[in-house]
Amino acid sequence: MSHGDEVKKAPAGFKVTARADGSDISAMENTELGLYALQFHPEVHHTERGTRMLENFARGICGYKERWTPSSFLSESVAEIKKQAGGKTVICGLSGGVDSSVAAVLAHRAIGNKLRCIFVDTGLLRHGDRERMKAVFQDKFGYSLKIADASGLFLSRLKGVTSPERKRKIIGHTFIEVFDKEAKKIRDAAFLLQGTLYPDVIESVSVNGPSAVIKSHHNVGGLPKKMKMGLIEPLRFFFKDEVRELGRSLKIPEPVLMQHPFPGPGLAIRVLGEVTPDRLKILREADRLMREEIQSAGWYSRIWQAFCVLLPVRSVGVMGDERSYEYTIALRCVSSVDGMTADWSKLPHDLLHKLSSRIVSEVRGVNRVVYDITSKPPATIEWE
Ligand code: XMP
Repeated sequence: MSHGDEVKKAPAGFKVTARADGSDISAMENTELGLYALQFHPEVHHTERGTRMLENFARGICGYKERWTPSSFLSESVAEIKKQAGGKTVICGLSGGVDSSVAAVLAHRAIGNKLRCIFVDTGLLRHGDRERMKAVFQDKFGYSLKIADASGLFLSRLKGVTSPERKRKIIGHTFIEVFDKEAKKIRDAAFLLQGTLYPDVIESVSVNGPSAVIKSHHNVGGLPKKMKMGLIEPLRFFFKDEVRELGRSLKIPEPVLMQHPFPGPGLAIRVLGEVTPDRLKILREADRLMREEIQSAGWYSRIWQAFCVLLPVRSVGVMGDERSYEYTIALRCVSSVDGMTADWSKLPHDLLHKLSSRIVSEVRGVNRVVYDITSKPPATIEWE
């Protein structure tokens, strides 16, 4: 059944067993015929109760016996990657995020040094991202990792651009160009490893007729088509929480697994309006302070994403005895299971107070901090 096709009346012989907001029938049964039906939109109902409902339906009613466990997936997936690669070199665009990290460690188990990682420094990263990446994958794990510094190129192409979708397109194309150039230097590269997750797949691909593309997420679909390489996507049917679970069984360090998702276009979609080195510097510094405070208050692992947005708005303030006219930082903190729906986080007032006073006093160019109290929907998590 697709969206909008909800059954309004139970067919003869069926009894309605569950209703939900906005739906007359969520589940129904015909015990005489042994037929059961459950209406379920996985992209919206991937919540704790939703998972319980599905489990009950699959195990209790349909009699499904679980064969899938993280360790069985691990061995099957390692064997599958090995088979798919067939002794050839596999390139991985490592971003340092949870998904590409888990995909890379999985692939490294399968093919060892036939895995070659490329990390593109877009100049749109957060404070410490590049260094952390190098410390974990090159210094600790000993993987083959090439760091391509293309920050100058990205910033020059973003000059004067204010539209969010234009920014995403420019960043997407430039990323492919830089990545492609590095990949061509690797001989025998036949496959591309990507940490694409299930929500990326369903938000980007319309299964049943046209559905509105809300934002063109460049991590799906861009690289492979251009690069004429086979694609290895071991996490394609996974949600984020399951990827973290898998990462744990791969013994990936907890700080890597528990880090918040970070979008491909990076800070460019958090500097509203034109992206300039000065504005990036302000945002990067505010973001560093925010993460530091949220971590030391013990809130980091309790939320899905916490970040700052630099608004293209200046307002009047007082700094010492002087009138100031500076930028505003918006704090965005949300809880979510998979990023498809989200609630704004009810951070304690004293933490908000600390964030605001540290940002205003320590980040030059900011004299006002606001807290975003909108959930998704109707707002999206990112502002652009
Ligand atoms: P929205 O803003 O659509 O975000 O509610 C949902 C999740 O996706 C991330 N996001 C992106 N990730 N490229 C990415 O790789 C993008 O263009 C992009 N836009 C949003 C966002 O950070 C959140 O986790």
